[in-house]
Amino acid sequence: MSVPSPFSSPFVFTCLLFIFLLTLSSSDCQPISTPAKRRPRQLSVSYYAKSCPQLEQLIGSITSQQFKEAPVSAPATIRLFFHDCFVEGCDASILIATNPGNKILAEKDAEDNKDLRTEGFDTITRAKTLVESKCPGVVSCADILAIAARDFVHLAGGPYYQVKKGRWDGKISKASRVPYNLPHANSTVDQLIKLFSSKGLTVQDLVVLSGAHTIGFARCKHFVARLYDYKGTMQPDPAIDPRLLKALKMSCPHAGGNADIVAPFDVTTPFLFDHAYYANLEGKLGLLASDQGLFLDPRTKPLVQSLGQDKAKFFQAFSAAMDKMGSIGVKRGRTHGEKRKVCSTHM
Ligand code: HEM
Repeated sequence: MSVPSPFSSPFVFTCLLFIFLLTLSSSDCQPISTPAKRRPRQLSVSYYAKSCPQLEQLIGSITSQQFKEAPVSAPATIRLFFHDCFVEGCDASILIATNPGNKILAEKDAEDNKDLRTEGFDTITRAKTLVESKCPGVVSCADILAIAARDFVHLAGGPYYQVKKGRWDGKISKASRVPYNLPHANSTVDQLIKLFSSKGLTVQDLVVLSGAHTIGFARCKHFVARLYDYKGTMQPDPAIDPRLLKALKMSCPHAGGNADIVAPFDVTTPFLFDHAYYANLEGKLGLLASDQGLFLDPRTKPLVQSLGQDKAKFFQAFSAAMDKMGSIGVKRGRTHGEKRKVCSTHM
């Protein structure tokens, strides 16, 4: 008998969450460098002021509707933006579909992108359709993705920040460019620092942007090794709170579990964009080894502590870091860029 997917069944999904929250409350409770190192080309907040003045309202009408209908669109789109920016820059190359007649797989079909939720792609498709109907041929998919990600941060309770615009869409989308440009759940802090630095991002940016894991979910495969056989010890990771360990083991068996079962990143406020992520790390409640590692490493621990104490500081730093991430490898003009009419296909 097949077990229902948490993505298709809100019931299983809710039950899972309930198990987590109940368990916790019942006690006392080598990167390839993208052009980021080059000086980012100038983006501006008022880029579409004349050509599409109502742009942000148009996108906002879609994001708020999506958020009501499918709240997972928020984490889905924020992650989509991150995965876009880290591979070939923020140029909507992640949205390109593999051409069936072409042997070259597009970015979105790379192994590391296979678990990106459809809700993120759907949001951009809907927003693009509306924007094209009002401002045809003017607005890039890359800018729509950047604005939608910001909208969802805000809709989920996080900060509102101005998005600079003027990105063109990229002409290259290859799955082969993905593996060394994205971090993994078992990446060491050293590897994370190197990868982020190859994109022009600092250690502080790494810690601050990881705070996006204050909302959203991860599948068991990304953390199951921590539960049963941490680094080949045949023991759980000692840096997991025993109550969380117990709860996670109930959902994620050592082998043969349902590949679609997910656990929330933030066990305390899983749907709210707040700074609880950092306090959770201090309490050994980080979900991925890469999350918990930020509290264990002396280079990142003080940042985790300070962001955990000050929500306003996190919000301010997150807004600035998203702006910085949003400038990675930006393309301008026809030589390297295009303005797609449909985000999933080149012009
Ligand atoms: C620092 C290194 C990072 C690692 C190793 C990492 C890894 C992961 C993994 C393994 C998942 C779970 C995917 C799944 O099972 O569906 C995930 C989800 C997520 N990531 Fe990250 N991530 C990192 C940084 C970031 C950054 C910088 C952002 C955004 C600024 C981000 C935003 C998200 C969001 C919002 C989700 C939840 C997605 C959802 O529920 O659909 N992550 N990440």
